[in-house]
Amino acid sequence: MNVLILGGGGREHAIGHKTAQSKNLKNLFFMPGNAGTAAVGKNIPGSPEDFEGVKKQIIDYEIDMVIVGPEAPLVAGVTNFIKSDAQIKNTLVIGPEKAAAQLEGSKDFAKQFMKRHQIPTAAYQTFSAGEYDQAAAFLKTLRPPYVLKADGLAAGKGVLIINNYEEACKELNEMLKGKFGEASGKVVIEEFLNGIELSVFVLTDGKDYVLLPEAKDYKRIKEGDKGLNTGGMGAVSPVKFADCDFMNKVKQQIIEPTLTGLMKDKMPYTGFIFFGLMNVNGDPYVIEYNVRMGDPETEVVLPRIKADLLDLFEGAATGDLVNRKYSHHSDYAVTVMLVSKGYPEAYEKGKEITGIKEAEQKHLVFHAGTKEENGKVLSNGGRVIAVTGMAGALDDAVSCAYDGVAQIDFEGVTFRRDIGADLR
Ligand code: AMP
Ligand code: GLY
Repeated sequence: MNVLILGGGGREHAIGHKTAQSKNLKNLFFMPGNAGTAAVGKNIPGSPEDFEGVKKQIIDYEIDMVIVGPEAPLVAGVTNFIKSDAQIKNTLVIGPEKAAAQLEGSKDFAKQFMKRHQIPTAAYQTFSAGEYDQAAAFLKTLRPPYVLKADGLAAGKGVLIINNYEEACKELNEMLKGKFGEASGKVVIEEFLNGIELSVFVLTDGKDYVLLPEAKDYKRIKEGDKGLNTGGMGAVSPVKFADCDFMNKVKQQIIEPTLTGLMKDKMPYTGFIFFGLMNVNGDPYVIEYNVRMGDPETEVVLPRIKADLLDLFEGAATGDLVNRKYSHHSDYAVTVMLVSKGYPEAYEKGKEITGIKEAEQKHLVFHAGTKEENGKVLSNGGRVIAVTGMAGALDDAVSCAYDGVAQIDFEGVTFRRDIGADLR
């Protein structure tokens, strides 16, 4: 099978790494990929949001399956585009159509979906531009901290959690006036949930699903969960508070009603669903849906999977997931993200990265923002490289990951030293 992975981050490198282990794989392509993916397949320049460009590559390289890594092309309708084009409509696609991608593309859509299908989530109301007075009045009925969410995609920056009522009103006003552009044309205000967060992932063909390993993400830039939000500075899997009892609730109260809801609403779904959950005194609540895998969660989830990932993908894309074999390792996986100095604000690119080959001897090294130039690997993004360590015990997996981190260097390299520390 010829496979094209859309995207160019650590998630796509990890998906490619696992897909490359499949006996069913013939050729692997990435668009655009990075310096790491070039070692497992062929990089094709271009943007996953340029659908005509994607179509050309599907035809030129006789692609049998497209795996969509990031959310933006899904929300823009890449799956619908492929499925409705006479020349490429038989290509298998991992990633939902535009309608279901709204679960991530619109917070208001996701909240309405959860309400309609009785899926536990924080109480909320949605307001549009011109409804500031009503929104401020609703805010007053809630207890602080106040949670304000831009409705649309805002590159991970659209959620504000504010303690003070006056300050929350000020931000609310700015959001409704377009602080996040179109994304905050509507604002979801919701009740604050006090608990511990975790991420749960399934791969589904719309009726059956496999439950993949759960993970915890470390979102803030600084140790002790301080500082600005990032795309993710590290991840751990498994998460010990996700015990049998809790996971049964997740299946019964969240995963299964979500799949039934998608069917009832006539939104066929092929691909990953990422449930961002809050464990509130042992009960799960949905904070958000994503219609793709997480990054850096993929860098700990996929290395734990024993099954043939491409076989699972084929099962998902042909409605035959129930007949595919799935299992995963009980080992811990820990990933630490190396980022550019200054990230998530302005940062420099183009720094030479050393020690990758050495680290790869004993660790999984996934490239996020890198490129190759004249035989050198250079930084090419805010998040640069994720180093994953695996071991039977959490402490050993943490040490393993940090041993790998110590081998890699570039000017201004920045990382958190406390990934996994809170789970010990
Ligand atoms: P989201 O983009 O919806 O995942 O929100 C970003 C982050 O804000 C989440 O990962 C949580 O840490 C936090 N958050 C979002 N909604 C809530 C909520 N209702 N209660 C507490 N924290 C929340
Ligand atoms: N690491 C969080 C995400 O991928 O959305």
